[in-house]
Amino acid sequence: MRKKVTKAVFPVAGLGTRFLPATKSVPKEIMTLVDRPLIQYAIDEARAAGIEDFIFITARGKTALADYFDRSSELESALKASGKDHLLEVLKTTNMESGTIAYMRQHKALGLGHAVWCARRLIGNEPFAVMLPDDIIASEKPCLQQMVEAYEETGGSMIAAMEVPDDKVSSYGILDVESENGPVVKAKGMVEKPAKGTQPSNLAAIGRYILTPKVLKNLDKVKKGAGGEIQLTDAIAMEIEKGRDVFGYKFEGRRYDCGSKAGYLQATVAFALQNEELGGEFREYLQSVVANDWVAQ
Ligand code: UTP
Repeated sequence: MRKKVTKAVFPVAGLGTRFLPATKSVPKEIMTLVDRPLIQYAIDEARAAGIEDFIFITARGKTALADYFDRSSELESALKASGKDHLLEVLKTTNMESGTIAYMRQHKALGLGHAVWCARRLIGNEPFAVMLPDDIIASEKPCLQQMVEAYEETGGSMIAAMEVPDDKVSSYGILDVESENGPVVKAKGMVEKPAKGTQPSNLAAIGRYILTPKVLKNLDKVKKGAGGEIQLTDAIAMEIEKGRDVFGYKFEGRRYDCGSKAGYLQATVAFALQNEELGGEFREYLQSVVANDWVAQ
């Protein structure tokens, strides 16, 4: 019987330099799409996939993130007193049961692989998910849930994957494909940020993973790789070298790279258009902006 995936690691200790100066004091994961911070989307997706334990790898300057998941009794009483029950319901989604959320500090931003390795004692000997909250995936069935269902069939390690154009391969971990079976792709290799023209395929890893605890053991040995960072990709590639199964999963849905300004703005527009309260008016506004070449209202 395969062990269920009930733990997820959220590496949020990066410097977020692409959003400076904002990220000098606001963690990237607290930035909002319409009215919810990026981290809330990731938590909701994790819950839908059956995750029960949430492990945050944080860093100095990220206390706003931990505060976000605390109960705010004062705010709750004020909303109750003024009869704003719908807002109380909204607040409930941010509450985490005591003991289900853990924060570990990554003392130096040595890379994603190192951040995940920081969770090793909390993970123990179980398969686990890794979610990068700056990748937002809009889909009917949440992406991690799609992957958990596929993982229950395949075992091994699994990485969310999507095709990217040639001029973008050098920004991603890229899979070397052995065979394909519907959305499940068996990998025979993986390389981090290959130079354009040297990539083994155009299938890129994005920020959702299901990993076996063996990947954590590999991370014990991984040396600095691309960009001088300890790369998660290198630990996953080691799995393949050791003859263990690694799969890409071509998820259904649209992914927004909210770690980049362009991706974040695209996601903001897309989510605002989908929003029940704002959608109609916002669409009209956008159309008039495009039609009239307005700068601001
Ligand atoms: P990014 O590559 O997006 O880096 O990290 P970043 O520091 O967040 O942002 P930029 O590139 O400087 O703008 C991908 C994910 O890995 C985490 C980040 O927090 C993000 O969720 N990460 C990265 C760590 O937790 N620790 C690290 O040392 C590096």
